[in-house]
Amino acid sequence: MRVLLVGGGGREHALAWSISRSPELTELIAAPGNPGIGRLARLAPVGAEDVGGLTDLAAGEGVDLVVAGPEAPLAAGLADQLAERNIPCFGPRADAALLEASKEFAKDFMGRHGIPTARHTVVRDAEAARRALRSGDYGEQPVIKASGLAAGKGVFLPGDPDAAERDAVGLLEGGLGDAGKAVVIEERLSGPELSVFAISDGTRVVACGTAQDYKRRFEDDEGPNTGGMGSLSPGLGDSEATMNRVRREIVEPTIAGLRAEGREYRGVLYAGLMLTADGPKVLEFNVRFGDPEAQTLMPRLDCDLLPLFFGAAAGRLPEGAVRFRSERAVTVILASDGYPGAYRKGVPIQGLPDAVETGDAFVFHAGTRAGPEGVEAAGGRVIAVTGLGADWEGARSAAYRCADSITWEKKAFRRDIANIAIQ
Ligand code: AMP
Ligand code: GLY
Repeated sequence: MRVLLVGGGGREHALAWSISRSPELTELIAAPGNPGIGRLARLAPVGAEDVGGLTDLAAGEGVDLVVAGPEAPLAAGLADQLAERNIPCFGPRADAALLEASKEFAKDFMGRHGIPTARHTVVRDAEAARRALRSGDYGEQPVIKASGLAAGKGVFLPGDPDAAERDAVGLLEGGLGDAGKAVVIEERLSGPELSVFAISDGTRVVACGTAQDYKRRFEDDEGPNTGGMGSLSPGLGDSEATMNRVRREIVEPTIAGLRAEGREYRGVLYAGLMLTADGPKVLEFNVRFGDPEAQTLMPRLDCDLLPLFFGAAAGRLPEGAVRFRSERAVTVILASDGYPGAYRKGVPIQGLPDAVETGDAFVFHAGTRAGPEGVEAAGGRVIAVTGLGADWEGARSAAYRCADSITWEKKAFRRDIANIAIQ
């Protein structure tokens, strides 16, 4: 099977590594990829958001399957354009990708189908925002969310109603551009968070693991939100009882609801949940694997993902489950000092292994590029290292041993990933 993988971050390196181990693969092409992915795939210089260019590339190369890493091309209609050329895409069409691209759509959808989530309202102007916030219906500390795609920057957790008003009005006045034209105001939930992954062909659903991520930049969950500074898998709290409930109350009704609305979902559904005292509730849906959750999940896989990706994309997911090894996995993101603000690009990296697997650790490139002295740090999140271990301590020490062995000036990372699983 010839496969085109779309994207160029750590998630896509993890997917490339997993796909490249499949006996069914004949050639892997990645667009645009990165230096790590370049060791596993032929790179094509087409941007991950260039939907027309990606479609032409897939057709010109005659690939059997396109696997979309990030959400942006899906929201922009990559799967739709590929379908016109009869090329299966792992990743939903734009009308289902709305689940991630529009929080307003996602909240309304959950309302229509009785899927548990926080109580909410949508506002489009400052006056409506003030009215909603002063009504008290969403509590003293409501959550404010830009409806549109905002690269992880669109959620605010203000400490009091005045701050909530400032955050909502700031979005409505264009603080995040079009993403904040509509604003979701919702009640604040509490409980542990859990990320749940499921693969579907539009009808059948198979569970594809759980994880937890660390969104804040600094230790003890201080500092600004980032794309993710680390993760662990399996997620804590994913007991059989909880997962049965998640499947029955959230994942299956979501896939069935989408189908009933003519928005057949082919790809991986990522449900970001809060395990509240009233049961699991949806914080957000994503229409792709998480980054860095994919870097944590892929090393734990104990089966060939490619037939599942192809089956989901072609509308006939094979029977059977996704199998995982019993080991724990801990992923630590090595970032550039300054991230998620400004940072230096083009700093040479020392100690970077050539292969993904190095003993009990796995090294995935995220924001790297080729430079005159070898691979350079060129992004906010530069490298993801994953440690695998029989228990959490083993996985954490494998990850940090590897994290310490890769160095560059301005490397920055959190030291407390997975502490929660151990203390
Ligand atoms: P989201 O992008 O919607 O997942 O939100 C980012 C983070 O904000 C989540 O991981 C939660 O930690 C937090 N969050 C979002 N919605 C809520 C909510 N209704 N109640 C409490 N925390 C929330
Ligand atoms: N790590 C969070 C995400 O990928 O959305």
